[in-house]
Amino acid sequence: MNSPVLQGLPLNPPAYVKNAKLIAWVADMVALCKPAAVHWCDGSVEEYDRLCQQLVDAGTFKRLNPAKRANSYLACSDPSDVARVEDRTYICSEKAEDAGPTNNWKAPSEMRATLQPLFEGCMAGRTMYVVPFSMGPLGSNIAHIGVELSDSAYVAVNQRLMTRMGKAVYDVLGVDGEFVPCLHTVGAPLAAGEKDKTAWPCNPTVKYIVHYPETREIWSYGSGYGGNALLGKKCLALRIASTMGKAEAAATGGTGWLAEHMLILGVTSPQGKKYHVAAAFPSACGKTNFSMLVPPAGFNGWKVTTIGDDIAWIKPQADGTLRAINPEAGYFGVAPGTNNVTNPNCMASLNKDVIFTNVALTDDGDVWWEGLEKDSGQWPAHLIDWQGKDWTPAIAKETGAKAAHPNARFTVAATNNPALDSAWDDPAGVTIDAFIFGGRRSTTVPLVTEAHNWVEGVYMAATMGSETTAAAFGQQGVVRRDPFAMLPFCGYNMSDYFQHWLDLGAKLTASGAKLPKIYTTNWFRKGADGQFVWPGYGENMRVLKWMIDRLEGTVAGHDTLFGITPNYNEINWTGLDFSESQFQTVTELNKSAWLDELKLHSEHFDKLAYHLPQELSVTKEALASRLNALA
Ligand code: OXD
Ligand code: MN
Repeated sequence: MNSPVLQGLPLNPPAYVKNAKLIAWVADMVALCKPAAVHWCDGSVEEYDRLCQQLVDAGTFKRLNPAKRANSYLACSDPSDVARVEDRTYICSEKAEDAGPTNNWKAPSEMRATLQPLFEGCMAGRTMYVVPFSMGPLGSNIAHIGVELSDSAYVAVNQRLMTRMGKAVYDVLGVDGEFVPCLHTVGAPLAAGEKDKTAWPCNPTVKYIVHYPETREIWSYGSGYGGNALLGKKCLALRIASTMGKAEAAATGGTGWLAEHMLILGVTSPQGKKYHVAAAFPSACGKTNFSMLVPPAGFNGWKVTTIGDDIAWIKPQADGTLRAINPEAGYFGVAPGTNNVTNPNCMASLNKDVIFTNVALTDDGDVWWEGLEKDSGQWPAHLIDWQGKDWTPAIAKETGAKAAHPNARFTVAATNNPALDSAWDDPAGVTIDAFIFGGRRSTTVPLVTEAHNWVEGVYMAATMGSETTAAAFGQQGVVRRDPFAMLPFCGYNMSDYFQHWLDLGAKLTASGAKLPKIYTTNWFRKGADGQFVWPGYGENMRVLKWMIDRLEGTVAGHDTLFGITPNYNEINWTGLDFSESQFQTVTELNKSAWLDELKLHSEHFDKLAYHLPQELSVTKEALASRLNALA
């Protein structure tokens, strides 16, 4: 094949790249973004090492002390570029109502007119990396391919850990396979001969994370961080994929499929019986911890294994089962708070081959973050914080300075996880037996409850909420409704998304399938003293085991106005001192608190009134009548 030449820049696609649509798209994007060079990533170790060295030379990466943290690096971002930018994230569907009230929307033509001049020449002086990746096991019928064009080598190396990235993707793509085009720039073009003045180029003022669901394109401008830049994750695997799953239902009249903000874990009993659970939690609610849970004392022989820590793609099969894959191949987790108490498997995953971002550097060339003092029993005497400043316990005490940014991250391949499930890369996925929806509420929502049926489960998920912390969202303690933990990630109208879940359940039921059970959990109830009552982390196994017992039909629980809740004596308490009155505190349903809560559900539904499924309003009314009937 002749290599197209644009403005004197040969594209030189490797011979194994045979997809004409891909080559034409790269040519168009080169013409638009005007990079100085194009690099087609092959995903090899040599390439990874070379790009990491290049990032070290550029000052973006620091190589960590190999005796402490083999083959690992630390990057520190620009202080303006430390998290996903929800207010700059857009769903540009043709019609505003298809994006719905929970997404920022602009008409595609208007957004294209805004972005065109920004992208014009945006990669000047930089290399464009062509990053082919499979979301899901290569060749799985649940997987999809994306290709990210990015002017960030940091993105290219992170994508190699986070996805199945490289040459093998082109074999699956073939001559005419489909891919989701993902265009990313840090938005910091260099003038001729100009060198970067910063180790973290980005655009400190202009950022756009844009999705065109109808044409399945992603355009990201101005940020080099996490979900803004690693476009396979939230952009493709959630926002675009959620619209794909729904569109398939509309196009075929079938069930379609689900792209969910869920971890997937396997739980195996001492007798070798295995179940699979998919669980949705809002961001920063301990999802990675739950996906790598180590069962506590009293659970000898029980094993929890990780299939995924953040995202699940779930497809109904001809036999009525729901099979799920983890579209990702690595973890981009929050470092602060992670330690050997909260997540020993994660700590073991981080011993080598890790990219850390915005954690602190120790004097002996290792990394540190808040929470690790619990492991060592002491604070380090001196660190370089994530902004390159000296940090000591005295400075922290005086100024409140954090050594690591609260949203500091690690990027690590799933294969580092000692608790990795043997089926994590199985193209057929695993069969889901139960869904969990976990809110973060100091009151109201019980520790665990099982929905009576699919519709009630969808109601629970649709109304789940998370109490804000001051750092994250302004005012402390306000309940932010986060339906299905998908608020920032649903690529279409939230009420249509609820309908998709209801339709999928109804169609599967009509075909005679047995649906997974649906649970809500809340690890965060507080007592009168304002302290968390439930110990959480590994102890959550006790709740998981009760769910398994429910699946096996060995415990009955008792009916409450909000589903079925365990009796105290149905939980295995071996090794934990947790009294019946503490249990009462985390499970009780208070009538007046619930009357207030239902008002909030009504307000939430009022905001989602367009296309809100009637079943959900009916379920709310039924809940209200049960509540009013209580003494
Ligand atoms: C994440 C998130 O990074 O949910 O996974 O924000
Ligand atoms: Mn997440």
